[in-house]
Amino acid sequence: VPVTVPFVFDVLVIGSGAAGLSAALTLSKVYRVGVLTKDTLDQSASIWAQGGMAAAIAAEDSPQFHARDTLKAGAGLCDPESVNFLVSQAPAQVARLLAMGVAFDHANQQPALTLEAAHSHPRVLHAADTTGQALVTTLLRQVHQSLNITLLPAWHVLDLWLNPEGTACVGVCVLGLGQLQWLPARLVVLATGGGGQVFAQTTNPAISTGDGVAMAWRAGVAVRDLEFIQFHPTALKLPQAPRFLISEAVRGEGAHLVDATGRRFVFDYHPDGELAPRDVVSRAIYHHLQATETEQVWLDLRPIPLPRLHYRFPKIIQVCQAWGIDVSQTPIPVSPAAHYWMGGVVTNLYGATDLPGLAAVGETASTGVHGANRLASNSLLECFVFSEQLATLQLPATTHPDSLPQWPPSDPLEIPHVDADWCEGVRRQLPQLVWQSAGISRHETPLTAATEKVQAWRTTLHQLPIGQYLIHHQPHTQGIKVNSNQAKVLQQWIELRNLLDIAYLILKSALFRTESRGGHFRSDYPETDPAWQQHTLIRGETWLQQ
Ligand code: FAD
Ligand code: SIN
Repeated sequence: VPVTVPFVFDVLVIGSGAAGLSAALTLSKVYRVGVLTKDTLDQSASIWAQGGMAAAIAAEDSPQFHARDTLKAGAGLCDPESVNFLVSQAPAQVARLLAMGVAFDHANQQPALTLEAAHSHPRVLHAADTTGQALVTTLLRQVHQSLNITLLPAWHVLDLWLNPEGTACVGVCVLGLGQLQWLPARLVVLATGGGGQVFAQTTNPAISTGDGVAMAWRAGVAVRDLEFIQFHPTALKLPQAPRFLISEAVRGEGAHLVDATGRRFVFDYHPDGELAPRDVVSRAIYHHLQATETEQVWLDLRPIPLPRLHYRFPKIIQVCQAWGIDVSQTPIPVSPAAHYWMGGVVTNLYGATDLPGLAAVGETASTGVHGANRLASNSLLECFVFSEQLATLQLPATTHPDSLPQWPPSDPLEIPHVDADWCEGVRRQLPQLVWQSAGISRHETPLTAATEKVQAWRTTLHQLPIGQYLIHHQPHTQGIKVNSNQAKVLQQWIELRNLLDIAYLILKSALFRTESRGGHFRSDYPETDPAWQQHTLIRGETWLQQ
């Protein structure tokens, strides 16, 4: 008699960043939750977050001001209902996190608040410059205490598992514990983060390969606004160093952005100078670098009093020190890098997608709060506010689809050969191509050429024996044993497939939107067009204005 899979969960959460962990805590009050995460628990954008989390909790501030700033940054594409919900829930989320024990910095017995670009009031809560670390470690402590949550690190989800009609999500296909297998669930929550790795220059960690958006799109779920990428103005720019983020909070605390001659050039582009909206500052740097034929500008932290600098930015000081920069003496070389993906899987106020059995939260989701450009420090807030909303979702009564995978797998199956060299080559070239064509400044000619190239790579990838095998392999069969070498190349194939899919979606969306707005700038359409105050909605191969 075949036995069923060893793990039986009501809910599978994919991802262990702020959104996934917070969702797991919320849902575990009622359901058995499995958290699948493709790497170790310390790999996420959440844990790297520096500046902090926005919430209008100061006496002179209000959720209305927070909403106004968010809508303004979003350049006409925010959903006002979602924004109002986000900002009105922020103070309650602060209370929830403080109650959990998050060690936000305090001043005069109140959480300390800092200013970031395009905020009209200081409203960013922080824990020095390692806010993400403080949040994630606290969430993990809570998760470890919950008997209803099982954490499954090194479980790499390949695809959603749909019912035979393709009308509902009934689980996932996942590589874990040396098996390729199908895990059923009443609800699957995508919390897989962003896709910055598709760009050669990014602040994002290696796990940010757009898996959730790619999987949802392949399953026919509506995704939108994928052309809107936020380029952070100030990532460390040194030949051998990673593009480590130098938080916007340093400018909020008084740091100057200067060129090689020491001039605060951003005032040439916007009256708010360094504290202009992020897309404005990034484009200002981009144009200044082009005009001056230089590679980086400089972030001068010396205007910040030394004791304050040490108190607020110990991690930035430490990382710069490791790369030979004493920030109390020398400005930091910086330039823009892809940072945040405004678009994503379309969800309603409750986190539901248009596929029954599938929800999405965090950076993977498009809840409507960011529009064309996210206001700094609103994304951690979004992770917490919308993951709590999942509590209201109704799950189908049946725990299992009709036919379950057998466990353990009876016969190891032969997985076809993966052309690892080809995959590695494309993995190297793709981010360069996307950075050059769909980076800070876009134009029809390179966008078209890049789309064609990416299409050709996608076709080859699908024709590789492994591609044919995985794409056509039916669920409902036994799992497939995979040795560690196979697992490595399989993971490489999975991530490349996702990166190629999101590259295709970003490029085609950037071509589709013939205007400039928020994080999307077209040098051939440099103006904002009121007729384009619409979302780019994608389902399968159909692109629509909505
Ligand atoms: P993530 O935290 O990225 O987590 C994604 C998870 O999904 C990971 O656990 C990953 O392993 C897992 N995963 C992905 N694919 C799969 C798969 N196929 N199978 C299984 N698991 C998978 N925002 C702010 O509001 N304030 C800040 O100060 C701030 N600072 C930032 C600093 C940096 C350097 C970066 C990169 C971003 C920053 N942001 C900040 C943005 C913010 O951190 C992210 O938008 C947010 O943390 C996203 O959380 P998430 O849970 O959606 O995704
Ligand atoms: C930063 O610290 O500059 C990042 C903040 C954010 O992405 O919201």
